Amino acid sequence: MNILILGSGAREHSLAWAIAQNPKCDRIIAAPGNPGIAEIGTCIPLDIEDGAAVVAAAKAHKIDFVVIGPEAPLAAGVADDLRAAGFLTFGPGKAAAQLEASKAFTKEVCDASGAPTAAYARFTQLAPAKAYVAEQGAPIVIKADGLAAGKGVTVAMDLATANTALEDIFAGVFGASGAEVVIEAFLEGEEASFFVLSDGKTALPLGTAQDHKRAFDGDEGPNTGGMGAYSPAPIMTDALVQRTMTEIIEPTLAEMASRGTPFQGVLFAGLMIRDGAPSLVEYNVRFGDPECQPLMMRLGAQILDLLLAAAKGNLAEARVQWADDHALAVVMASSGYPSAYKKGAVITGLEGIGETSNQMVFHAGTGLNEAGEITNQGGRVLAATARAESLSAARDRAYQTVDAIKWDGAFWRKDIGWRAL
Ligand code: AMP
Ligand code: GLY
Repeated sequence: MNILILGSGAREHSLAWAIAQNPKCDRIIAAPGNPGIAEIGTCIPLDIEDGAAVVAAAKAHKIDFVVIGPEAPLAAGVADDLRAAGFLTFGPGKAAAQLEASKAFTKEVCDASGAPTAAYARFTQLAPAKAYVAEQGAPIVIKADGLAAGKGVTVAMDLATANTALEDIFAGVFGASGAEVVIEAFLEGEEASFFVLSDGKTALPLGTAQDHKRAFDGDEGPNTGGMGAYSPAPIMTDALVQRTMTEIIEPTLAEMASRGTPFQGVLFAGLMIRDGAPSLVEYNVRFGDPECQPLMMRLGAQILDLLLAAAKGNLAEARVQWADDHALAVVMASSGYPSAYKKGAVITGLEGIGETSNQMVFHAGTGLNEAGEITNQGGRVLAATARAESLSAARDRAYQTVDAIKWDGAFWRKDIGWRAL
């Protein structure tokens, strides 16, 4: 098969790496891809939110299967355009992608399906939103309704922070994504990422992971897209997975189907676990980044069969083969991230790393300079990922890789995995 992967992050590199191990895969085309993916397949420039352009590229490259990595093309309806043009595609259409693209929509679905989630209210104007916050008190959580590249949520420990967040959103810092605000009760507990494949009828639990959202060690500093992750998440026991399926995932998928917009793709539930009970913090309609990297390292070649089964509606017959292993990814970032950072420093040490099925450096924001050297071009640059029989061995192996890689201005968290270790 010729397989087109949309996206350019370490998530997409890990997907390409695992998919390419499956004998069904003849060729990987990635759009726009990155220098790491270019070692596995062909990268082509493309505006991946432009459905007509993606369909044209799929025709030109005789694509048999399209895997959509990030949320933006899903929210833009690119999966609908591909399916309408006859391409087998993994990922929800625009209507089902609302589970990530609108926090208010997700709350409506939770209300209708009874899935446990934080109490909330919705506002389109500043004054009533501030009055509500004053009445509820802090801590409280302020969320721009729409997509905001992971920056639309403020967990406010005091009222002044909550009010500033509301003022910013209604002043338009997130554009149309902030036309509406969801204000939520603060949930206490431990967070976990839970991934479920759905073909619209059948849901298949795929795996669990834990992310590290804050920039610095000890969960300090600003929120980021994620600075490291490991899989499995020990907090997600079999009983808790079962309970999450019954109380949250299955009711959500049934509600989506009853609305005539069944969900096909990977549903990523961000959960808060307290006293053994799960609550939904948010849905994403794609794999997490960096959670995807340890998941792909653990799943390997079978991921292609699973994604195909979801896209074809055959999940009822599919099984996930799990080994008793652990994987962990450490994100190496450009110092300054998630705010401004310098680009263009040459990255050394990559050649010496023996990449194996247990050890990979997945590329995110890398680029090539005129001399053909790999440089940092984004905030999150590399994800050093390792697998072993224990989490501590996987961590040690991932940090050995990190220690071998250098560029001027690199930073990373030293404590990935601390909660589970
Ligand atoms: P979201 O984009 O909705 O996942 O929010 C980003 C992060 O904010 C989450 O991963 C949590 O760490 C935190 N968060 C969101 N909603 C809540 C909540 N209701 N209570 C506590 N923390 C939250
Ligand atoms: N790592 C969290 C996310 O991908 O949304």
